Amino acid sequence: MTQGAGTVETEEFLGKIRGYFDSTLPVVLKACGPTYQAGLYKGEDAANPAAANNLFLASRAGVRPGMRILDAGCGAGGPAVDIAKAYDGVTVRGVTISPAQAEEARKLVRREGLEGRVDLRAGDYHSLPYESGSFNIALFLECTSYSPDLARVFAEAYRVLAPGGTIYVKEVFLKEGPLGEDERKEIEEFDRMFVLYRTYPRSEGAKLLERTGFRDVRSSSLDDVMTTDFFIKAMFEFDRRGVPSLTEFGKLHFREFKCLPTTYGELRATKPG
Ligand SMILES: C[S@@+](CC[C@H](N)C(=O)[O-])C[C@H]1O[C@@H](n2cnc3c(N)ncnc32)[C@H](O)[C@@H]1O
Repeated sequence: MTQGAGTVETEEFLGKIRGYFDSTLPVVLKACGPTYQAGLYKGEDAANPAAANNLFLASRAGVRPGMRILDAGCGAGGPAVDIAKAYDGVTVRGVTISPAQAEEARKLVRREGLEGRVDLRAGDYHSLPYESGSFNIALFLECTSYSPDLARVFAEAYRVLAPGGTIYVKEVFLKEGPLGEDERKEIEEFDRMFVLYRTYPRSEGAKLLERTGFRDVRSSSLDDVMTTDFFIKAMFEFDRRGVPSLTEFGKLHFREFKCLPTTYGELRATKPG
């Protein structure tokens, strides 16, 4: 596939992702709620693990009261709403490629009474509908691997951030180094199943951020603090005798991977002031 947003191949791929998120929305909402991330923070025994995860990520990103936040790839609105509820005066703007998700996100925002502070809509993070210098923080939570043109995504984030602003990427990254044959097959199956364009290594993302002009690029593993337990649990249900079967979500997404070469991580970088 040719790289570069605007190409016929890219438009086709974006259509595929849109179709995936639009068509799976009811199943995903039932299984995961309005936050759709494979890895959730396991740091505490929280009543609401998705919210605990989103607030953990917000603190890693440096969110503070009153900030203007971009939630790129905002999904059905879980992270944006959790962050707006927790931080006084924060405003959140976000886009998702899926109109169905955007509609669901708007309903959630209305239910929470956050219309004045949170605006989530259908849009493409390769071409953001915001003025340059609009945000203090740009969040990308498990959504960059869907991009056929990551350089353009990071350039857009750079443009819409104010000087001194932070980009924060939390992602399921590809393990570093050469892959074995079985690992390669499993990551291909993983990308196909989640309709990802390409799972990439953290080091590649860090280099690209540098090339985009970001400074103070920091790249860390989150493997010690993330768990897939909630994600896997959502794939199974049990009858009265305790016999497990796959949920609708599980039918779509369960595979017995043996050596999936993925790792949770984060990238953080600053637009020079
Ligand atoms: C796994 S979901 C994560 C959603 C959300 N960040 C969360 O934590 O719940 C991936 C998200 O990336 C979004 N996405 C993928 N490609 C996109 C694009 N080109 N522009 C905007 N959003 C995109 C999808 O619409 C979806 O909302």
